[in-house]
Amino acid sequence: MKDEMSFGLWLKQRRILLGITQSQLAQHTGYSVSLIQKIEANQRRPSQQMAEQLTNILSLPDDQPALLQTLAAQQRLTPRHNLPIALTSFVDRVAEIRRLHQICEHTRLISLIGPGGVGKTRLAIHLASERLQAFPDGVWLVELAALGDPVLVPQAVAHVLGINEEANRSLEETLAAHLAHRQLLLVLDNCEHVIDACAQLVTLLLQSAARLNILVTSRTPLAIVWRDAIPSTTTSRSRCCHFV
Ligand SMILES: Nc1ncnc2c1ncn2[C@@H]1O[C@H](COP(=O)(O)OP(=O)(O)OP(=O)(O)O)[C@@H](O)[C@H]1O
Ligand SMILES: [Mg+2]
Repeated sequence: MKDEMSFGLWLKQRRILLGITQSQLAQHTGYSVSLIQKIEANQRRPSQQMAEQLTNILSLPDDQPALLQTLAAQQRLTPRHNLPIALTSFVDRVAEIRRLHQICEHTRLISLIGPGGVGKTRLAIHLASERLQAFPDGVWLVELAALGDPVLVPQAVAHVLGINEEANRSLEETLAAHLAHRQLLLVLDNCEHVIDACAQLVTLLLQSAARLNILVTSRTPLAIVWRDAIPSTTTSRSRCCHFV
């Protein structure tokens, strides 16, 4: 019987041979991990453009360190994020990460809701780092845990994005104007104690910026009815959070 090599099988073998993870390949190409998984499993045919891109990347010589250095150098040349480097390895959450990647394809607002210490922030940073390539204008983490006053929420976001207040308009309006044509992911972390201010800003920014995506972590949900909202998927409390 003829032993045929499918594109998916070739992709998987080359990727493993070069020591690249699905996640690294996803980051480098801008495609989602789930899409790469489906192509490798022959559940999805790549477009011609995607097949050419993947072929070009994976047809490099079998020089694993060189390729990884190239990938790392490209990341360094485009420092489009302020995500912290994790000091411990990320464990478990495989199902959540896969589900979140799927959800990211369909909605611009995701909230990770759950009790303190359950892993919301860690999961958000991990997910955000896996989606860097999807956002040419960057992935920006705004840590709100230490913020004392809800009035300061817009300032905290503006500070991270390097946006200054402008004459004759509020900082919220300035933010909305600056983000209007940007394709970026904003991660608002630990919103629970400034939840109403966050809900207000998130609503304004999502309405003003069509390619803006927002990932929220909070112990309590934001009171927002977002038209693209997906049904909640509740996971067990000990495992993590639910997505809203
Ligand atoms: N998947 C994971 N792999 C490794 N460590 C994790 C993971 N999830 C959480 N942790 C660790 O557990 C601790 C608590 O996680 P995290 O800060 O993300 O919780 P949280 O839900 O955001 O809590 P809070 O509501 O207090 O902000 C952190 O030290 C974090 O690094
Ligand atoms: Mg947190």
